[in-house]
Amino acid sequence: MLIGIKSNLKIITSVKDQNDYCNSLGEEGKKISLVPTMGNLHKGHEHLLSCSRTTNNKTVVSLFVNPLQFNDIDDYKSYPNSIDADISMLERNKIDCLFMPSEDEILESIDESHSPNLPVYMKTLCGKYREGHFIGVFKIVRQLLKIIKPSIAYFGKKDYQQLIMINYIVKEHFMNKIKIIPCDTVREDNGLAMSSRNNKMTKSEKNIASLVYKELLALKKIIRFDKNYDYDELRIKSIDNLSKVGIKIEYLELLSSNDLSIIQKNDTDNRMLFVAFYISGVRLIDNIEV
Ligand code: PAJ
Repeated sequence: MLIGIKSNLKIITSVKDQNDYCNSLGEEGKKISLVPTMGNLHKGHEHLLSCSRTTNNKTVVSLFVNPLQFNDIDDYKSYPNSIDADISMLERNKIDCLFMPSEDEILESIDESHSPNLPVYMKTLCGKYREGHFIGVFKIVRQLLKIIKPSIAYFGKKDYQQLIMINYIVKEHFMNKIKIIPCDTVREDNGLAMSSRNNKMTKSEKNIASLVYKELLALKKIIRFDKNYDYDELRIKSIDNLSKVGIKIEYLELLSSNDLSIIQKNDTDNRMLFVAFYISGVRLIDNIEV
């Protein structure tokens, strides 16, 4: 059902209507850009929207809080919802279409006979600590790409492991016919990466959380300029520094940005630091290129 048109933003809530809309754009020779989201939009999402406006494509934003990717039911139930503000942001950014499917319809449309087979590097980092998370992301993103048939899709580097899995999906299931554009991480003034979860923290907790980014920058400096660095030692020191201010590190890894493999000391290309941590029960992730 097409429930409304606000300014030029079409809001579509059924899979069939979204399919029809995208097919009709195709018949008119128009190409589609897709920005998948779970809503509660912030400036990080807005950056993806502005990247998508740099082409003449029609931009579709999907908003669906995907239960399949939450390994913690309370996290899913408490996921913030700010639909009115989200719609205002989409209108401000001249987005053409918002796809907001109902949970039942989109989940039923997923073909469960093609169970995702994830590459081995998806078992590390968040894959190790969030059981089933990436399978859930895989299923929903593959389905959104099937329904919307974009020529371009935009994803944030903040969720770097997710981003490389999307590249894998496009290669395995869409013959590389969709161009994936990685977008830079948008940060608060204090350096904390924007996230929908930041709303769960007080101002002072956010300031403490921003110390993790500062620690990543300090590690980057050492790794770049001290040829004799010992990463295991550096990691232990960083975890210790951060634990003193109440941050519990889940992982802090220096890996290859190509395939998340362990890097050798003399590899100086494609290095990335990845971190996941807890502050007052809120789990956050971040990364930087080294
Ligand atoms: P969500 O967390 O809403 O993020 C939607 C997109 O915004 C993702 O590509 C994410 O990497 C990007 N993003 C989030 N914070 C960002 C920031 N601070 N700077 C730049 N980009 C940022 O990621 C998801 O939703 C879901 O897993 C989804 C892909 C929609 C599948 O359900």
